[in-house]
Amino acid sequence: MINTRYLSHSFGRYWALKNISFVLNKGDFLFLTGPSGAGKTTLMRILHGSLPLQRGAASIAGFELKSLPKKKLHLLRRQVAIVFQDFKILPDRTVWENVALPLIVRGMVKNKVQKRVRAVLRGLRLDKKSWCLCRELSGGEQQRVAVARAVVVNPQVLLADEPTGNLDSKLSWQLMEVFRQFHVHGTTVVFATHNEDLIKSLNSAKTLCLKDGSIVDANWSLEDNNP
Ligand SMILES: Nc1ncnc2c1ncn2[C@@H]1O[C@H](COP(=O)(O)OP(=O)(O)OP(=O)(O)O)[C@@H](O)[C@H]1O
Ligand SMILES: [Mg+2]
Repeated sequence: MINTRYLSHSFGRYWALKNISFVLNKGDFLFLTGPSGAGKTTLMRILHGSLPLQRGAASIAGFELKSLPKKKLHLLRRQVAIVFQDFKILPDRTVWENVALPLIVRGMVKNKVQKRVRAVLRGLRLDKKSWCLCRELSGGEQQRVAVARAVVVNPQVLLADEPTGNLDSKLSWQLMEVFRQFHVHGTTVVFATHNEDLIKSLNSAKTLCLKDGSIVDANWSLEDNNP
């Protein structure tokens, strides 16, 4: 489902990622860890096609990034959803509008949109905030809107960049449960976090630790099926 081969990325003369190679299969759950500046967000952005692939190769959900033209990126994004570290939700729109937007863009019929958005908001304990403007929400609520908007499309791959960063412990566990459910149902999840308790809570997960742009630790053989 995700395959990177000697993937490297530089910002000017600084190499933020160096020779990253690993394989994830359908339904895998990966915890991506590593200190601040290790390259986690950079890797997520490349996999989502929001940063260009400079060196090496990577494929995700059947798309080979090297040969994917910009005008076809929307096809990749139908299968690969991302929760950005800084949310990137629309502050002057309601919670409902933010979450419904990806479905409307896809041309889903209105009553299906309503059903799906309602279910997702309920699952993330946001149903009471449906009609609030996002700029009026707390940081943790905005973070959950970002998660709702990513999961509402039922993606094949879910990239989540520190999605529990602003949440208290109870909400972190509730959110973790949402991701776990997607994993159980076959979604491939990449979850960047520093939270050791969350990592320990999911035995089946793979873990990959980056430092200074390199892989320094992993709990599987990187190219192998088994954790
Ligand atoms: N747009 C950019 N221009 C220049 N340098 C960048 C840019 N984005 C990231 N970097 C650099 O690349 C390195 C990796 O950054 P990245 O955001 O991927 O780290 P991270 O592991 O996500 O860190 P954090 O845990 O703080 O979110 C950092 O040293 C950062 O300064
Ligand atoms: Mg980051």
